Amino acid sequence: VGAQAGGRSDAAPVVFAHRGASAYAPENTLAAVDRADRLGFDWVENDVQLTRDGVPVVIHDTDLKRTTDVEDVFPDRAPWAVKDFTAAEIARLDAGSWFGARYTGTRVPTLTQYLDRIGSNRQKLLLEIKSPKLYPGVEKETLRVLRRAGWLDRDHVRSRLVIQSFDAGSLKKVHRQRPDITTGFLGTPAIADLTSYAAFTDQINPSYTSIGADYVAAVHALNGAHGKKLRVNTWTVNDAATAVKVDLLGVDGIITNTPDVVREATG
Ligand code: G3P
Ligand code: CA
Repeated sequence: VGAQAGGRSDAAPVVFAHRGASAYAPENTLAAVDRADRLGFDWVENDVQLTRDGVPVVIHDTDLKRTTDVEDVFPDRAPWAVKDFTAAEIARLDAGSWFGARYTGTRVPTLTQYLDRIGSNRQKLLLEIKSPKLYPGVEKETLRVLRRAGWLDRDHVRSRLVIQSFDAGSLKKVHRQRPDITTGFLGTPAIADLTSYAAFTDQINPSYTSIGADYVAAVHALNGAHGKKLRVNTWTVNDAATAVKVDLLGVDGIITNTPDVVREATG
């Protein structure tokens, strides 16, 4: 780690285990956060969507096909959208065997189960509200679960949480409902538009393919919604050479499926 072009103040970027340590265990499961924990990573990223009966669950795709055995269990329920299944139905699915036989029996966690596990692991959460337009009320339900699990009302716990989304409208809702939560916008707004984003977000989290040092410096020149320097966490960087390159841009954080590789390259 040397001088970075974009003006990061910390010595090394924060490393976020994307969907958990998802190169090594099935993404967005308790096994993936446990793997991140065993590798020594406290920050984990996940994706939250709502079931048909309004329960926040942790899964990336808006359908269940790629990461569960839903087609075998419910063969007549095409297109197998998350929003068409109840939490009880999703709880029956195997979300591990697609990744490897040793993970057979791994489940799609509810957000409550997920928070419980990362709480016991003393981990921190970069929570993505995924495809919120499909799920009216997802912000409110997610905040309700976070509050019930004790993540919102004490400063030292709330500081372990960031909520991010590709959807600026969704993020604004979160910021309006709970202005004390740190937020991140996923994407690469034009530099001229950054000031308007800074009104409701604390982080700009772009794809590493979309940024250069000038962009990182432009973000760092502004303060975010809580008056601190706007931060940049970039995704999804899974190899050492790319990690070194984005580190030199001065990003604050790197979101990765291979946190051990990124730390080794940048720490
Ligand atoms: O956290 C950044 C990253 O998760 C955004 O993309 O598709 O993996 O949710 P995606
Ligand atoms: Ca995500």
